[in-house]
Amino acid sequence: MGYTEKVKQKLESLKNKQDIYVLGIESSCDETSIAILKNGREVLCNIISSQIDIHKRFGGVVPEVASRNHVQAIDNVLKSALQEANISLEQIDAIAVTYGAGLIGALMVGVAYAKSLAYSLNLPLVAVNHIKGHMAANYIADKTLEPPFIGLIVSGGHTAIVRVDDYLNQTFIGSTLDDAIGEAYDKVARVLGLEYPGGPKIDKLAKEGNKTIDFVKVDTLKNTYNISYSGLKTAVINYAHKLTQNGEEINKADVCASFQAEAVDGLVDRVIRAAKEYKMDKICVAGGVAANSYLRNKIMQEGEKNKIKVFVPPIVLCTDNAAMIACLGYYNLINGSGISDMTLGAQPSLKI
Ligand code: KG4
Ligand code: ZN
Repeated sequence: MGYTEKVKQKLESLKNKQDIYVLGIESSCDETSIAILKNGREVLCNIISSQIDIHKRFGGVVPEVASRNHVQAIDNVLKSALQEANISLEQIDAIAVTYGAGLIGALMVGVAYAKSLAYSLNLPLVAVNHIKGHMAANYIADKTLEPPFIGLIVSGGHTAIVRVDDYLNQTFIGSTLDDAIGEAYDKVARVLGLEYPGGPKIDKLAKEGNKTIDFVKVDTLKNTYNISYSGLKTAVINYAHKLTQNGEEINKADVCASFQAEAVDGLVDRVIRAAKEYKMDKICVAGGVAANSYLRNKIMQEGEKNKIKVFVPPIVLCTDNAAMIACLGYYNLINGSGISDMTLGAQPSLKI
């Protein structure tokens, strides 16, 4: 019996199995991560090997360096995952993997690794969309949470508002038309001489400053669900360059506070509006920028004002991790969706 037949049998046997163990793999950017989840929401392990220190000296993620480091790290990450979960590969029921969106070389490492594990163990291979996966962090953080709700994804690569209709389907509502919010944070930080990744540094510095500068005079997308960050980013960069050229000192804390308020307020306004329009009483946030304290406070406050419950997972589940991939992989698996064969390839520009 070949791989395809054995997978069919396995899928059949899972229908009556009490506990299902999914191993998830994430390598879309600069985190090599493997997680094992029991029944979709119980995290047995979520090992994350971050390359941040390696990329710091380049001021951002270098794709080729990221791919090479995934190759070097992934075997040890698997070993640690099995050890921490106290489980053997033979007990795993399915392999879930991020196949897009992300850096092509980085994705290819995870996809190739997942395929070889699935093939050698005769297990179903579940292809997971990274952007949709971010939302699943909320299912792990709150075991009682169920769709539908409005989702806000804020990361270094994505900024999107979605309607999470059920465990499998998400409908696009709006997104950035240019830079992702995290990208804008990182670029502004770089111009202010703050180390990569700049988001957390801006978050911290902004607490010592005030919103004294209006960087964007008119928000032409105000009445839509889309947003633009390149104008705001350029305005901050021009402001900083002008002061430097004139030999004037930059009040970095005020620049951070002003930039951050403009970057976040407009987005929160759109998410709340979306929740009202689609009559949702829940908003779930995910992605690395969900670690931002100003965003957390602002969205909580606005949610409370509008009687909308806001969910923000702990930071370890907000940034890239394989637990969210295994979680969404589980829901795909039990619904017979997203199951792929050995032709699965990386899709760097995969959409929601
Ligand atoms: O989700 P993530 O780990 O990776 C991507 O999929 O992009 O997000 C990383 C992004 C970076 O741009 C980083 O600067 C930003 O999240 N970030 C923050 C904070 N912590 C991380 N941005 C603002 N405030 C923070 N506290
Ligand atoms: Zn991400």
